[in-house]
Amino acid sequence: MAFRWLSFLLLALPVLSLPQPSGIEARALFCNTPANIPFNDDKLPDPFKFNDGTPVRSMTDWACRRSQISALVEGYEAGTLPPKPPVVTSTFSKSGLTGNLTVTAGFPGKTTTFSSPITFPNGTAPAAGWPLVIAYSGLSIPVPDGIAVLTYDNSAIGEQNDQSSRGVGQFFDVYGANATASSMTAWVWGLSRIIDVLEVTPAAHINTAKIAVTGCSRDGKGALMAGAFEERIALTIPQESGSGGDTCWRLSKFEQDSGDVVQQATEIVQENVWFSTNFDNFVFNISLLPYDHHLLAAMVAPRPLISYENTDFEWLSPLSAFGCMTAAHTVFEAMGIPDKHAFVQVGNHSHCDFPSDLNPTLFAFFDKFLLDKEANTTIFETNGLFNGTVWNPSQWINWTTPRFSPL
Ligand SMILES: *[C@@H]1O[C@H](CO)[C@@H](O)[C@H](O)[C@H]1NC(C)=O
Ligand SMILES: *[C@@H]1O[C@H](CO)[C@@H](O)[C@H](O)[C@H]1NC(C)=O
Ligand SMILES: *[C@@H]1O[C@H](CO)[C@@H](O)[C@H](O)[C@H]1NC(C)=O
Ligand SMILES: *[C@@H]1O[C@H](CO)[C@@H](O)[C@H](O)[C@H]1NC(C)=O
Ligand SMILES: *[C@@H]1O[C@H](CO)[C@@H](O)[C@H](O)[C@H]1NC(C)=O
Ligand SMILES: *[C@@H]1O[C@H](CO)[C@@H](O)[C@H](O)[C@H]1NC(C)=O
Ligand SMILES: *[C@@H]1O[C@H](CO)[C@@H](O)[C@H](O)[C@H]1NC(C)=O
Ligand SMILES: *[C@@H]1O[C@H](CO)[C@@H](O)[C@H](O)[C@H]1NC(C)=O
Repeated sequence: MAFRWLSFLLLALPVLSLPQPSGIEARALFCNTPANIPFNDDKLPDPFKFNDGTPVRSMTDWACRRSQISALVEGYEAGTLPPKPPVVTSTFSKSGLTGNLTVTAGFPGKTTTFSSPITFPNGTAPAAGWPLVIAYSGLSIPVPDGIAVLTYDNSAIGEQNDQSSRGVGQFFDVYGANATASSMTAWVWGLSRIIDVLEVTPAAHINTAKIAVTGCSRDGKGALMAGAFEERIALTIPQESGSGGDTCWRLSKFEQDSGDVVQQATEIVQENVWFSTNFDNFVFNISLLPYDHHLLAAMVAPRPLISYENTDFEWLSPLSAFGCMTAAHTVFEAMGIPDKHAFVQVGNHSHCDFPSDLNPTLFAFFDKFLLDKEANTTIFETNGLFNGTVWNPSQWINWTTPRFSPL
């Protein structure tokens, strides 16, 4: 987003006085980010090609590619994520180890107010403040000592009961019931306002450079969307997010077509209002999507991402999650940081229950990326239980992974 605005501002400068940009510079200055493009491919879209088919070969290229992906995700499925509104104020109070952060956001005469409880660690805050986990709806993973936890009532910001929730929630009180947003983008908007106010609330003692986001199931879909769009999130931890989360629409359709009972796109738009009404136009034509969720996950890079999945529930689309994250992983590999992207897929536990034998994987990510401790975060594992449906990478991944040049 910021990138698009930068391009716009630079375009607004007297262009004639600038030297003629070319190559990498031209891409950085004039990144074209349409909300939809002609496209039709059964395979997963190539992360390393711009919309116009030219190659993506550096971190500078990736900044533009990421902006393109972001615009496409908003355009096709997530709806518009509005920028920071003119009014953003807050109050903060603390009693014992429990804080209460209240945000008021919107436009003069049209604001909404929401409060989030924060549980603080015992003891004295580090000089930079406590690291923080923002938990969509409530925490369902263990968090090590020394990290604060904020519970975000995302369902109040964008309701998610059923079809009757369309346009309902505090976000829509501000932007109107007909805003093209979905509950996913409404939730990101509210989360971003929480970070806005934490940045200017020294009394809360939160280190805003060390914020993680997590959520399970529907809220895991939301947590991935938050990590993708909000670059101030330092660590993204979707848990059992399934279809609409760390799975790819194309691969979920393949699972359904193979006889598995999956929460694929055609079902998900009936079930709830997580995605925009525009997405309804594509659920029977998935190959027209010029992105898929491997690219949503890749928007998190180079920031760290660890996602957990559960093979006990076929509707969570286990093959799709593994395949989709395998495809997303190539972007972290291109950046030379495969240890910033982990995937853990097991079974034998109920939905949103976090098996304690997975603690070492999770704590490695907390240690390394929130607590500045050494840890081995090279983790990518599955039990491979896909109900007999076969993951064949070459059927879906039609690219070779480049190694990005530093510029
Ligand atoms: C948090 O603070 C707001 C604003 O003062 C208040 O309305 C709300 O009741 C408080 N919440 C709790 C749980 O104390
Ligand atoms: C916090 O630490 C103090 C001093 O060690 C202890 O007395 C108190 O019980 C602790 N509180 C909690 C909630 O752990
Ligand atoms: C939203 O759109 C519906 C259908 O077009 C229309 O009836 C309604 O008046 C609109 N509501 C607002 C608040 O604009
Ligand atoms: C697993 O596959 C079989 C055979 O295709 C199918 O009948 C069954 O419904 C699948 N199970 C689930 C839970 O999707
Ligand atoms: C989209 O899917 C519908 C329903 O399967 C089909 O009738 C239509 O031809 C498809 N459109 C395109 C452009 O592929
Ligand atoms: C559940 O645990 C058993 C025994 O440890 C193991 O054999 C099996 O593969 C596990 N199932 C899943 C789905 O992980
Ligand atoms: C980190 O863990 C991975 C997976 O267990 C292992 O292959 C690798 O050797 C470890 N790296 C180091 C430096 O210990
Ligand atoms: C991509 O697909 C084309 C046509 O099916 C094939 O010739 C090519 O080898 C594939 N490339 C990769 C990298 O898989």
